[in-house]
Order: sequence, then structure tokens, then C-alpha cells
Amino acid sequence: MRFWILTLNPGFFRGATDEGMIRIARQKGLLEVSVVAIRDFTDDRYGTTDDYPYGGGAGMVMKAQPILRANESVRRDAEAGGAAAAGESPRVLVTSPQGKPFTQAWARELALEREIVVLCGRYKGIDERVIPLLGAEEISIGDYVLSGGEPAAMVILDALARLIPGVLGDAESAEADSFSEPLLDAPVYTRPEEVAGQCVPDVLLSGDHERIRVWRRREALRRTWRRRPDLLLGRTLCKEDQKLLDEIKKEEGR
Ligand code: ADE
Repeated sequence: MRFWILTLNPGFFRGATDEGMIRIARQKGLLEVSVVAIRDFTDDRYGTTDDYPYGGGAGMVMKAQPILRANESVRRDAEAGGAAAAGESPRVLVTSPQGKPFTQAWARELALEREIVVLCGRYKGIDERVIPLLGAEEISIGDYVLSGGEPAAMVILDALARLIPGVLGDAESAEADSFSEPLLDAPVYTRPEEVAGQCVPDVLLSGDHERIRVWRRREALRRTWRRRPDLLLGRTLCKEDQKLLDEIKKEEGR
């Protein structure tokens, strides 16, 4: 996958894309990250990337033309690199608190793309005409407002990198994650057995694989029920899960 980031703050990604899963994916040759500075595509000597909003009001709006030029350059590079066929445009996402919520299902779909462009929003927003002109989809990483889209682009990149086929080893396969089915993970522990008077649950030391499996399932359901009941709403559970959940509700007196 080639992941392009259009940004006013290219420095933000220095270091961040050289660590962890993103570094592994890049080293394996399965991911290429290209950071494009929008400011390089301005046409005045001040490098102006924003302007006042029509109709007045506070905040500045990102100008359309530098973004369109930056995207055009990405398209040319993508075609020259052979990753995109002539005339075929990469998928374009624009980070925005107004966007569609980013989910694991969307991440799985995006991880299959060969080319993705993420345009990082800033200031009060981006000139609205950019969205249809780029055929872009607006994407939000949560119901809070960041000062810029760069952290959102990093979140998206991280979530996609680990889903690119071949990046994770079998043992850590992304299939077993929270949200590959919409259930939170059970708690995990490692050595030592006791930390400041807190002990590892006995069952995990029992060596009884079936008991451990059931315990993990029960605790995953318990966490989901306590913290994210919305994930269970309207879901038909298998017989075992339903029984465990009924027990949990009884235990918790709800
Ligand atoms: N830019 C500012 N806030 C954002 C959010 N929550 N998600 C994506 N982009 C953003």
C-alpha cells in the first residue's frame, strides 16, 4: 500500500512513521508512506495556504488551489510509479470532525486499497469545493475536536498498517482483536503472579484451556456490557454467549 499524507505540518510525521507497526510494514516493503507538504504548492511568495471565510466569522479556511495542485502531483506520481493505472485516482480521505466515524470495518476495507491519500484538515476547515473535486470522503476519528488532522491521519495509518496482509505474524493475527468481532477484549496479565498485592486470577494459572477460554469469553462480555453496552444492543448472541451474559447480568444485579 502507498499511503500519501497531504499536510501543512510535514514535521509531525517525522519519527512517528519510523516506529512500531508502521516501521515493520515499511521494512517488509508492504507499506510506503509519502508525506506531501501542501505549502510547496502555493503560488505566492508568502506560501499562503489559508484565507478568511466568506460570510465572515472566526478562524481561517484552507485554500483550495494548493490542495488541488498537491493532489494532482500525487496522482502523477502514483501513475508514474505504476501503482495506479492511467486515469485511475487513488482513494482520497479528508480528516474532519464532521466526517463519517472511522471504524474497524472501514479500516478493513481501506487496508485492501493500493493507494490512499489522506488530506489533513486545519484551521476552521477546508474550502468545501475541495471535497467533490477530489472525490474525497470525510473521516472522523471520534467526537472531539483536534487542532489539526495530523493525529487523525496517524491513527488511520496505524490502524491500516497492521491490517495489510503479511504485516502481522500469524500468532498476533488481527483476526483475534477487539472489534474484528464487536466485543471488547478480556483483561490480560503477565509475570509476576502478584503485583502490589494484586494477584492474577487463579483460572489463568490452572492450565485448563477450556476453563480459560470460557473465563476470557465471560470477561470480554462483562467488559463490553459494562463499558460499551451499545455494542451488544440488537445483537443476536450464540447460546453460550447469551448464557454467560445472563449470568453476568445476574451477578451485577442488572
Ligand atoms: N480534525 C479535528 N478533529 C478531528 C477528528 N475528531 N477526527 C478527524 N479529524 C479531525
